[in-house]
Amino acid sequence: MALTLFRVKYRLCYNENAFGPSPKAIAAAEASLKDSHRYPDMVYGDLRQAVADKYNLDVNRIVVGVGSDELIALLVSGFVKEGDEVIISQYAFSRYELAARLVGAKPVMIPENDLKMDLQAMLKAVTSRTRIVFMANPNNPTGDCLSRNDLHNFLRDLPEHVMFVYDAAYADFMDDPDYSDGFEWVAEEGRVVVLRTFSKIHGLAGMRIGYGYGSHMIANTMNLMRLPFNASRVGMDAAVAALNDDAFIEKSRTHTIIWREKLFLKLQSLGAKPYPSKGNFMMTRFASPAQSVAMFNHLKANSILIRPMAGYGLIDCLRFTIGQEHEMLALFAALKSFDWKNTK
Ligand SMILES: Cc1ncc(COP(=O)(O)O)c(C=O)c1O
Repeated sequence: MALTLFRVKYRLCYNENAFGPSPKAIAAAEASLKDSHRYPDMVYGDLRQAVADKYNLDVNRIVVGVGSDELIALLVSGFVKEGDEVIISQYAFSRYELAARLVGAKPVMIPENDLKMDLQAMLKAVTSRTRIVFMANPNNPTGDCLSRNDLHNFLRDLPEHVMFVYDAAYADFMDDPDYSDGFEWVAEEGRVVVLRTFSKIHGLAGMRIGYGYGSHMIANTMNLMRLPFNASRVGMDAAVAALNDDAFIEKSRTHTIIWREKLFLKLQSLGAKPYPSKGNFMMTRFASPAQSVAMFNHLKANSILIRPMAGYGLIDCLRFTIGQEHEMLALFAALKSFDWKNTK
């Protein structure tokens, strides 16, 4: 699998940015290379300040991590112990469950109805042992997205002892006025933590940079727990440049929204069941597990790698990342040449 992944011509499996890194980020990374003999700034001051300036946040409550993956692990290691419970929607991003299991906690998986998160069921599942509710919004891999209003009500009803980790990895792809990136819910002394990443719209997945925003207590704890030089100097400099490359961000967002819609219609017209998505990817259900496997193999034979969803127990589903125009056209051609009738 690993070799295939890197040799493949069209890599539409990891929700990476179709256009690569922002050109400004590449220039900043190149300029930073000459200082590679120096350790990074231990407090990642430039990046935290850039984030604080952009979103009007308190710089002291921002934590830089090696991707948001590291921040998820830090939150669980810092605030959850063996025997505690962590509430996670059934098809939420898989790292939450894994992080909980790694510390011996019990992941409480909340059933979804047709790939939709169920806020009421999450609230009902809270016990005195619940430490964290994890949520990605939009969620990867389903693409499901909850409105500001629904989440506002959910937070109002969520008992005070429970931390709410709101993973907004795909927030920059949103075009919906009813969406909240979550920063408005992060209070100085509160229990909401927002996670963001440079791996998606900023095109820096290989640099491994993310950040979290929480209360003083939560941010201080995470800063104490992370390695002193966790993220790289080059990554930090690239991230600062990417954050402020508005033209690249806009180009990526517009492209994604246009091709997301085209992909939805294409899959629907061919008889599959795509799920509306707010991210740079699209979950799609096929007629049967056999058809889904046959589609995966057919696309692979056409040098297109997409993501099977068997790991989530969705054996009849595949997830497509939005690529560049030529990649999407190659995908559309391959979807069309698939033998739909004989692979039920
Ligand atoms: C919802 C969500 N959160 C976090 C991540 C991890 O991102 P990072 O590359 O910053 O570790 C991903 C990556 O796919 C994701 O989909």
